[in-house]
Amino acid sequence: MTPEQATSARAYGWMLGGKDNYDVDRGLVLAVLQGFPECVDIARQNRQFLYRVVRHLVTEAGVSQFLDLGCGLPTENNVHEVAQRFDPAARVVYVDIDPTVLAHARALLLDRTTAVITADMREPEKIAFHPRVQRLIDFTEPVAVLFLSVGHHLKDVDNVGAGARHALRHIIDAVAAPGSYVAFSQVVSDDVRRGTEYAQWLDGAGVPWQHRSPADVDALFEGLDPVDPGLVNVLDWRPDPNQPPLEPIPDPLRRYEGATRSQSVVYEYGGLLRKP
Ligand SMILES: C[S@@+](CC[C@H](N)C(=O)[O-])C[C@H]1O[C@@H](n2cnc3c(N)ncnc32)[C@H](O)[C@@H]1O
Repeated sequence: MTPEQATSARAYGWMLGGKDNYDVDRGLVLAVLQGFPECVDIARQNRQFLYRVVRHLVTEAGVSQFLDLGCGLPTENNVHEVAQRFDPAARVVYVDIDPTVLAHARALLLDRTTAVITADMREPEKIAFHPRVQRLIDFTEPVAVLFLSVGHHLKDVDNVGAGARHALRHIIDAVAAPGSYVAFSQVVSDDVRRGTEYAQWLDGAGVPWQHRSPADVDALFEGLDPVDPGLVNVLDWRPDPNQPPLEPIPDPLRRYEGATRSQSVVYEYGGLLRKP
């Protein structure tokens, strides 16, 4: 079956070098790149940030349990693979709204230390009390809640749940133990006109999108303690030139590699925050 609508999971997965995508996903990516050629770079910069932030959480913060919301399709260096490289006992629950993620992830990921569920992060209460989450995550101990390259899919005001703030804050504020962490990233722009144009483009293609500036993101996380260097362009979050590489860029996207050197209208903004 060939789907008629692009999905975030497959379109992003293609930019990372993934094979599970269709013409409609590749078409959306190629169309967006006409106006925003930096998108391939920023998708890949985000995935490299994921590696660094998970490694930091295990090796520096001592966290061994992860709730990965909006996890996307499995690819290289999935969260449990990174975490378990440094702590073989680390536990991860993957959550995504897209049921194809569950189908692909099941084949690859399931053992006693990992689980995957299909759920909507705009309903965080259901996620926190899901039996598979309860089996693997002990909320009386610090947990890392990951929202990586997903904040832009959460509208400030939504008909499901109570909008982005509730989706992003409920588990950390109401369920997680003190000393827990939120790792976050989303596509932002300092240019309201172009950022809104970008959001409208994706929204129009059926991929829900909320434009935010860095200051809008900062406001969502008031009250949590930013871990150094705070919320920044993820490129600048504890860069490590020696981290493992991603899958190669697919041939049709090669010409966009390095585009952030000349245009950065949109970029991934994020970091790590701790619940006091
Ligand atoms: C760009 S991918 C990010 C994948 C991964 N977190 C990463 O950083 O590499 C965004 C993912 O968020 C998922 N998503 C979007 N809205 C969601 C929602 N309301 N609840 C759960 N997942 C959602 C999409 O299906 C997609 O797989």
